[in-house]
Amino acid sequence: MIRASAIRGMCRCRPATHPAVKGALERTPTCRLIRSGTDHHPRLFSSTRTMAAPATRWVGSAGAGGRDLRSDVMTTPTANMLAAIQNCTLLDDVFREDRTTLDLEAHCAKLAGKEAGLLVLSGTMGNQIALRSLLTQPPQAVLCDQRSHIFKYEAGGVSALTGAMLQTVIPSNGIYLTLADVEANAVLSDDVHACPTRVISLENTINGVIMPLAEVRRIADFARKNGIKMHCDGARLWEAAAAGAGRLDEFAACFDTLSLCFSKGLGAPIGSVIVGPADVIKHSTWIRKSLGGGLRQAGVVAAPARVAVDETFGTDPSGADGILRHTHTLAKEIAKLWTDAGGRLLYPVDTNMVWVDLAASGVAPGVLDKLTEEEGLRMFGNRMVIHYQIYENREQVVPQLQRVFSKALASAPKEVDTTPTALNDSKAIGSQQSQYPKK
Ligand SMILES: Cc1ncc(COP(=O)(O)O)c(C=O)c1O
Repeated sequence: MIRASAIRGMCRCRPATHPAVKGALERTPTCRLIRSGTDHHPRLFSSTRTMAAPATRWVGSAGAGGRDLRSDVMTTPTANMLAAIQNCTLLDDVFREDRTTLDLEAHCAKLAGKEAGLLVLSGTMGNQIALRSLLTQPPQAVLCDQRSHIFKYEAGGVSALTGAMLQTVIPSNGIYLTLADVEANAVLSDDVHACPTRVISLENTINGVIMPLAEVRRIADFARKNGIKMHCDGARLWEAAAAGAGRLDEFAACFDTLSLCFSKGLGAPIGSVIVGPADVIKHSTWIRKSLGGGLRQAGVVAAPARVAVDETFGTDPSGADGILRHTHTLAKEIAKLWTDAGGRLLYPVDTNMVWVDLAASGVAPGVLDKLTEEEGLRMFGNRMVIHYQIYENREQVVPQLQRVFSKALASAPKEVDTTPTALNDSKAIGSQQSQYPKK
């Protein structure tokens, strides 16, 4: 038998720090070394193999994500996430037997104050399954912001999968939907000519901007009074909570279902979770299966997602002990560098996104992309996403962006129309760029 002290002496690995790693090890019945008080797992102990994944140039903020401002989806998995994959339980999740997956679902449901959760492969899958589970049969409509991901970027899935029409609304304040917008556009009548609103789907944050909790509550009250269900595309609701706009469970109380992404600002490689009432989530399990989203050894997806929740968002529904709020401070600093150099912003910087108004700043499209590329960074169009791996590399990235901004704004013509581009101006709507580069 190998003695634990001998292993400690021989092995170069770092101790596993995250509970998703330790938890799986402690539950491994054959692990004598765990019981003898070491973090090392015998299956992994063959000469130089280590339990924690090595930090290579691909991993965490050393990887491509650390220089990529195009989106927080670019964040690269960390060593702790990779170690969690190496050490998770590997049972079948279609049979609902995998402890790592069930624990993650229960943990997220608890953070959101909901009865149940369901792991899905992506934010798109989460929205589609949740909406399919809330809707029944046509005629039916989903009311949402005109800029919503479910409308613009989910390949028409809502209509294809549910037969629902989308009632898209341009926010009258140019920033987020209000109760007045919803009241003016929801179809409540039973006139046979109309398509009744059955679900209101709110995206929060939307373009990095927080929909305030008070407004979400007003809309939820209206929905309940009128028998309308509420869904939240909460791909980045974590950001709103971490910014102090309300706890995750306070926002979640306004909704029947929420889809929360692990692979955006939290940094996991894959996955989202739907949370909601037990009966809706049970139904969602069927829909997930029908879409081919039932996974076998789902622990490999769930384990890094759990690390992402605990280490990036934090351990309670306020996100107070996670990293996200530092990214918001940095985003505001970067926005200030831009405005101090004479640039204009398109949206307020509430969380991790800085949207610059290129037209009002007199900067031609493509200039920022080119200048950031020359600095070894990546950005796309008029948006910079300041995710936590940019935060970790801030000492290099901030001076680089400062150089980019001063070059870009130096090239701006002296006489430009500096009126900020308003969202509800038809010219601006036409010019709202897609999140995705044109092929
Ligand atoms: C607000 C929002 N919802 C949903 C999604 C879809 O997530 P996924 O790319 O994982 O399907 C995205 C993707 O960027 C998003 O920004």
